[in-house]
Amino acid sequence: MNQALLTRLFRSIEGDQNDTLIKVAYSIIENERKKGHTKLADKLDTIIQGNIAKSKKSEPTLKLAKVGSSSDSIYKIPVDRRYRLPLATHIENEHLRHEMVLSPNVEDKILRIEKEYLARERLAHHGLKPRKKILFYGSSGCGKSMAAERIARDLGLPFYRVRFDSVISSYLGESASNIFKLFESIEDYPCVLLLDEFDMIGKQRDANINDPGEIHRIVNILLGLLEEYDGEGILIATTNLEGSLDKALFRRFDDFIEFPKPTEKEIVEILKISFSALKLNSKVHLKDYAKEMIGMSYAIIVKIANDAAKKAIISSREEISVEDLNMALEENRAINR
Ligand SMILES: Nc1ncnc2c1ncn2[C@@H]1O[C@H](COP(=O)(O)OP(=O)(O)OP(=O)(O)O)[C@@H](O)[C@H]1O
Ligand SMILES: [Mg+2]
Repeated sequence: MNQALLTRLFRSIEGDQNDTLIKVAYSIIENERKKGHTKLADKLDTIIQGNIAKSKKSEPTLKLAKVGSSSDSIYKIPVDRRYRLPLATHIENEHLRHEMVLSPNVEDKILRIEKEYLARERLAHHGLKPRKKILFYGSSGCGKSMAAERIARDLGLPFYRVRFDSVISSYLGESASNIFKLFESIEDYPCVLLLDEFDMIGKQRDANINDPGEIHRIVNILLGLLEEYDGEGILIATTNLEGSLDKALFRRFDDFIEFPKPTEKEIVEILKISFSALKLNSKVHLKDYAKEMIGMSYAIIVKIANDAAKKAIISSREEISVEDLNMALEENRAINR
């Protein structure tokens, strides 16, 4: 079976260690390992372990919800004191983006984060800790935010995205208090907390904070809290500031991963996935298009594929034509270069 299909199938398998389906899943993993597909086997293994963990976790939550008890077992997103704005947004597990095409190097690093998290108890027996403070960097539209969502989904962890627009307040001292509140609230709560484009705090100079010293202080508080964080979850910060990253920043993280633009091979794969529900005209040679698209971000490539598909669908054609794809490519070319 094709790797992407197998991965998709595995994501939908739920149950505990003793369920027949889980046993079958493990024998498939073993088979793939025997065939020498070690990376695929590792990936499937991580997904299954995540799903088992997820089903263990969902039972008590369901029971609690039924009897309507103990509100402190449910995480409450802290709010800004003045405007009562939530400091983070929750994204439901089933809405998390996760079908990714990544370079083998990035895929390995993400799998390592997932595996270490799953093995956290075993690691603790040896006085070791999983990687849980991660920095994703690289150009826009190359999967940084998406990878954070994928990790939460694979591990069955709740996903929260920090809302810096609520965190940063124009009232002196309040931004700092919001940041403290947020970190305090997640200390004992296993989740993935995404500090998306966290460097934008530094760019708030023209916002309603007048004192540049205050911004500097907020950034330092955030970095300090990141450094100290030793909670139950995984913190992921992202930035697309390439090259100009402060060396001191890397030191605060357990791992940092660069998200490069896709290679020709990865572009072909993305296009195949994007077009999997439709037919392609036999004159469409994806490899040739991939060559044309080198240097573009994943996001633009997905957009080109979707634009071409939409054009075919609204013209009631069953196949995507060379013209559909050429037009979409030309229209989007300017955006990326
Ligand atoms: N590796 C990938 N595999 C498949 N699709 C991808 C990948 N990376 C990005 N995409 C597509 O691009 C879109 C944007 O990706 P994402 O939001 O993760 O980018 P980003 O790196 O966080 O960009 P930014 O720096 O602008 O926030 C996704 O919704 C998805 O459609
Ligand atoms: Mg992003």
